[in-house]
Amino acid sequence: MIIFKKAADIGQFLHKTGEKKTKTGFVPTMGALHQGHISLIETAKSGGDLVIASIFVNPTQFNDANDFQNYPVTIEQDIDQLEHAGCDVLFLPSVEEMYPDGLVNKTPYDLGYLETVLEGKYRPGHFQGVCQVVHRLLTIIPADHLYLGQKDFQQCMVIKKMAELKGLKTKIIICPTLREADGLAMSSRNMRLNKEARQKAVEISRVLLHIKASVKPGDLSALKKGSVEQLTRAGFKTDYAEIADANSLELVDNWDGKRKLVALCAAFIGEIRLIDNMLL
Ligand code: PAF
Repeated sequence: MIIFKKAADIGQFLHKTGEKKTKTGFVPTMGALHQGHISLIETAKSGGDLVIASIFVNPTQFNDANDFQNYPVTIEQDIDQLEHAGCDVLFLPSVEEMYPDGLVNKTPYDLGYLETVLEGKYRPGHFQGVCQVVHRLLTIIPADHLYLGQKDFQQCMVIKKMAELKGLKTKIIICPTLREADGLAMSSRNMRLNKEARQKAVEISRVLLHIKASVKPGDLSALKKGSVEQLTRAGFKTDYAEIADANSLELVDNWDGKRKLVALCAAFIGEIRLIDNMLL
């Protein structure tokens, strides 16, 4: 695996591969890699792409300074895992390399409704930071395919919207969430859970499975309220347990039995915030 730290160097390398018409697949990450990330590498690999990963803990997408400071960093293991998975290229930039003009974004992305609900509502500025970094990454690495995990359902929609707004040619491929044996969605933040919190954390996926098994046409408010109560009983402080249109993310209170739905939860266990979702 070749490691680049400078945008100009990876740019030169990709220019050469582009001349050979090699297809490129890109997996952007913030490190602290787990099997979910590796499955994205494997999917890109199986499609025959030259696979490029990035590791960059992006300061502009953290609305909580504490979360940024405590974000797990496991760079040595990450490099080993990527190499083992057959990743071809790793981009490992510094903050200065990613943000040569400073961290402030002077031209916000018009994300409209998407930025006002769920993660957008509870993490103000978060999606602007995500767009800022992914836009910059795709400018440096204009890959044919971008691989993202469904675990960050709203982020996938936001990145698609940003790519549309900016007329990027990269095709976005959403890959399924990987789960631990008990159902907990794989996430870098899981590394921060102690034994007791780890045991409780599984309740989020149970709540989503319960919604999936019980959802019926008509009023959904009791199902949503019951979900928050279930999380509270398990020791969570819940931001939301919602049901939304899977295509637009419009919150659905009364289901016509036809629209494709997604259930989404975000909740704190102690100071660690976990999110998960399930298509219904
Ligand atoms: O999902 C993530 O890890 C990050 O939000 C991303 C897409 C790498 C941007 O920093």
